[in-house]
Amino acid sequence: MNEFFEDVWRGLSASPKYLQSKYFYDEAGDAIFKEIMDCPEYYLTNCELDVFTNQSDQLVNAILKHLTEFDIIELGPGDCTKSVFLLEALVNRNVDFTYYPIDISTNIISQLNEKLPLQVPGLKIHGLNGDYLGMLDELKEISTRNKVVLFLGSSIGNRPLEETDEFYKVLVSHLLPGDLVLTGFDLKKDAATILAAYNDKEGITRRFNLNLLQRINDTLDADFDLKQFEHKPEYSEQTGACRSYLASRKPQRVRIGEVGWIHFMEGEQIFMEISQKYTVQQTDDIAQATGFAVVHHFYDSKEWFLDALWQCR
Ligand code: AVJ
Repeated sequence: MNEFFEDVWRGLSASPKYLQSKYFYDEAGDAIFKEIMDCPEYYLTNCELDVFTNQSDQLVNAILKHLTEFDIIELGPGDCTKSVFLLEALVNRNVDFTYYPIDISTNIISQLNEKLPLQVPGLKIHGLNGDYLGMLDELKEISTRNKVVLFLGSSIGNRPLEETDEFYKVLVSHLLPGDLVLTGFDLKKDAATILAAYNDKEGITRRFNLNLLQRINDTLDADFDLKQFEHKPEYSEQTGACRSYLASRKPQRVRIGEVGWIHFMEGEQIFMEISQKYTVQQTDDIAQATGFAVVHHFYDSKEWFLDALWQCR
């Protein structure tokens, strides 16, 4: 049986029930996520765009101060809305580098390979299709230069805090001393602002979550009745964890293919996603604990979002 089925079955058989947010991103999910990025409540994209449009020269200066020869790697580039400003600034300053976007989606990589050279004339791009760490290994054969790794959008927040050090320790083991990592961290702020970003008025985020049940219906021959599940985001100011759940509106059972039934009590929840929010101190501590020195903090004008530049020690 395939991995998607195994993960879904394991998560829905567990107590409490959960699904893995990496499965949000099928073709429909990619499209809904784009809608989220464009909706007024989802401030993250605009904040990080503010950094990349207004401080691209400062970003380039900070990179050039620490590295002379390097290639750029981006983990999960999406459509490069933000990074394209950095790439443009580097090309305009005649820096010789290759851009290696790494994504699990073949679709994203082929689109970037095709479109980005038109958008940024003179850009050398080599898209890699696969999982981050596997592709970083492969990259060792292709590029011997130092690396600047971009990990934007607070994608790191999809991991619980307890697992974040481990992620960076593994990342460091694939890098060289001197390599740079730029991570986008969404910062703790007013709870209502955060909750609204994950509970937009138009119901786009609700659709985004329900789409995973639809994906399970379509690809695993299940019979989730989407109308019988309610989208419930929660934010804890204490921990900075924003969590999304789908709650069953009634007692019900859902068939998953030929394999069996999943039972729900009224109000029983499926944990769908964590979007962790950080203090600046927490991000500094992660750097310190995992083998990096903090080089520079880039904030948007509201100081809601941090792009932290770290260097491997
Ligand atoms: C792509 C993981 C950064 O957690 O903010 C947006 C995904 N989920 N709205 C986030 C998401 C609901 C997003 N990341």
